[in-house]
Amino acid sequence: MSAEIRPAQTSDIDALAALEKIAFKTDRLSRASFRRLLSSPTASLLVAGAHGSVAGYCAVLYRAGSARARLYSLAVSPASGGGLGRVLLSVCEDAARARGCRAVRLEVRQDNPRAIALYERNGYRPIGTWLGYYADGMNALRYEKTLDASLPTAKRDDELRWEPPRRE
Ligand SMILES: CC(C)(COP(=O)(O)OP(=O)(O)OC[C@H]1O[C@@H](n2cnc3c(N)ncnc32)[C@H](O)[C@@H]1OP(=O)(O)O)[C@@H](O)C(=O)NCCC(=O)NCCS
Repeated sequence: MSAEIRPAQTSDIDALAALEKIAFKTDRLSRASFRRLLSSPTASLLVAGAHGSVAGYCAVLYRAGSARARLYSLAVSPASGGGLGRVLLSVCEDAARARGCRAVRLEVRQDNPRAIALYERNGYRPIGTWLGYYADGMNALRYEKTLDASLPTAKRDDELRWEPPRRE
C-alpha cells in the first residue's frame, strides 16, 4: 500500500490524540506526551497521511549509548483499511537504522493478537514477559528484531524495565 509518511508537526497533535482515543482503551498517550515526543532529540514521531490528516503514527525512542531502539507506540486508524501497520513498522526500522541502531525492541499487550501477528510476521522474536505491566494489570510481551546481525548491541538495556507508554 502507498502512504505518505512524514515527521509529525504540532498541528497534528489534535488528530494524534483523536486516533489514540480510538486505538487504545488504556495507557493512552496524552497531548503533552505527543508534544514531548515532537521536541525530543531522542525520539522519532512519524505520521502517515498528507498534511492535516493522520491515518496512523509510530513513535521510536533512542537512548544514548544504546544500539537498540524502542518502538514506543504504533497505531493506525481503523478506516485505513489494513496494511498501514506493516508500512509504519518498516518506517520505524528505517528510522532506527538511520540513527545507527542495530535492533528494535517493543512491548505489546498479551491480549492484542492483531499487533502480535503483525510483529511476528515481520521478524520480531519473543524475548520475555513483563507481568502486570499495563495500567489495567495486563502483561506485556516483549519482542526484538535484529536489524543488523553482524554488529553487537549495547548490553545495558537488558537490565532496564521501561515505563509503559502512559501519561499524565
Ligand atoms: C496493531 C495495528 C497497528 C495493526 O495495523 P494493521 O494495519 O491492521 O496491520 P496489518 O493489516 O499490516 O496487519 C494486521 C494483521 O493481523 C491480522 N489480524 C487481524 N485481526 C487479528 C486477530 N484478532 N488475531 C490475529 N491476527 C489478526 C490481519 O489479518 C493482518 O494479517 P494479514 O496481513 O496476514 O491479513 C492496528 O490494528 C492498530 O492500530 N491497533 C490499535 C493500536 C494497537 O494495538 N497498536 C499496537 C500497540 S503494541
